[in-house]
Amino acid sequence: MFDFSIDAADPQALYADLLSAADALTAGEPDGVANMANLAALIWQSVPELNWAGFYRLIEGELVLGPFCGKPACIRIALGQGVCGTAAESAQTQRVDDVQAFPGHISCDAASRSELVVPIRREGRVIAVLDLDSPRPARFTKADQAGFEQLAGLIADRI
Ligand code: SME
Repeated sequence: MFDFSIDAADPQALYADLLSAADALTAGEPDGVANMANLAALIWQSVPELNWAGFYRLIEGELVLGPFCGKPACIRIALGQGVCGTAAESAQTQRVDDVQAFPGHISCDAASRSELVVPIRREGRVIAVLDLDSPRPARFTKADQAGFEQLAGLIADRI
């Protein structure tokens, strides 16, 4: 069992702690599914106001659901579709304050109001996205985006 104490009150401390916990959890473990499962659980436990946290992997030109915490979700997403497909196709983080205003947003959980999707790149190519949903509109700040982009860099070779 792993028990990480992460202080969510201060965003800088939160992401410093989250990154070091993610590093400790995944270092030396070669199984990507095990690492994604533990990372989804770590994020779910540590980051407040989420209703979904997990991974979609880019497999043969489409996104396929990976390990996550939250309600069961859409299994396959085409590149360019929804927030996840847009992030994967453009290789750009999508920080969406109001998912209902995002053209083509795919609603997996009706509770979701805002979303942050961070592409994960290995050797310059997108291999997966990290998807975070919140029931609170405009939940994700630039600091959240920067923290999760750093996390994506850390884990790219471990998933
Ligand atoms: N809302 C996402 C779909 C995935 S779920 O949020 C888990 C999208 O528009 O791509």
